[in-house]
Amino acid sequence: TQGCVIVVGSINHDTSFTVTELPAPGQTVVSSEVSISTGGKGANQAISAARLGARTAFIGSVGRDLAGREALAVLDAEGVDTVDVELIAGSQTGRATVAVAATGEKVVFVAPGANAQVNGRRVVHTLSRRASVSDVVVLQGECGAAVIDQVARHAVHAGIRLVLNLAPFVPLLPEVVASADPLIVNEREAAELLGHLGSSVDDLDSLTRLARSVVVIHGARGAWYAGPDGAAAVPAPPAMAIVDSTGAGDALVGALASALSMGRSLPDAVTLGVAAGAFAASRRGTHASYPFRNDVRLGANN
Ligand code: RIB
Ligand code: NA
Repeated sequence: TQGCVIVVGSINHDTSFTVTELPAPGQTVVSSEVSISTGGKGANQAISAARLGARTAFIGSVGRDLAGREALAVLDAEGVDTVDVELIAGSQTGRATVAVAATGEKVVFVAPGANAQVNGRRVVHTLSRRASVSDVVVLQGECGAAVIDQVARHAVHAGIRLVLNLAPFVPLLPEVVASADPLIVNEREAAELLGHLGSSVDDLDSLTRLARSVVVIHGARGAWYAGPDGAAAVPAPPAMAIVDSTGAGDALVGALASALSMGRSLPDAVTLGVAAGAFAASRRGTHASYPFRNDVRLGANN
């Protein structure tokens, strides 16, 4: 049976500047282009999952402001169920400012706003009402440690699969990390997590033992996974130029969750995720650049 992807997460109003070079402290640089769109790792991941055909629902918060109404309209238009997104009076929708340099390097500032008002108890209550064992719950570091902690414990208790994208890194208890299936991190987040848990920061074996399964995103080069089905590197498809990688990791996470919700194996899900991430990075924009079902395929045995 096809489950649902339930994203618990962040919704931001993104302002993204294209610059030749990132500014040094004290420097002002002029941007050649600025674009505004709905973002936030949670929203991006939900849109990626929905575009690839998963039934997708969102649990989170926005402010009672224009950015919040726009975000809800965007998620609705993408087919994401937003009934459990709370509008919080007196709070601003989260904001992110992104600067992307011609080299592909970027800096991101995030003001969580209403995202910080997401209440773990309310999320658990919502999950116990609507989530079933065939569903996949997706969390990101932007949810904050307290919400991740509560949701992870509920997921274990209820037997619901948890996809934990620790972006950005937030300190978590080992037993919370252990419940992830998979834990998804990039190389920096992997090093931060290993350092936090007292392991050597480049110890792949300890990383593998931290969670039920682990996926490491190697930027544009693809990803590596380890889990009960074995371990392997999944290289990105060749010959895709990088145009804008903002949110490419979110495309990967959402695509992976969508494949898992359809009962696919982790190796298949990582393959779809890598293809979706590469597709997104090769086009301008964040969620606007995410693939639909005809753009990427699940693999030969589809
Ligand atoms: O991963 C990209 C996202 O990170 C952006 O959409 C921005 O909102 C930040 O949360
Ligand atoms: Na893109």
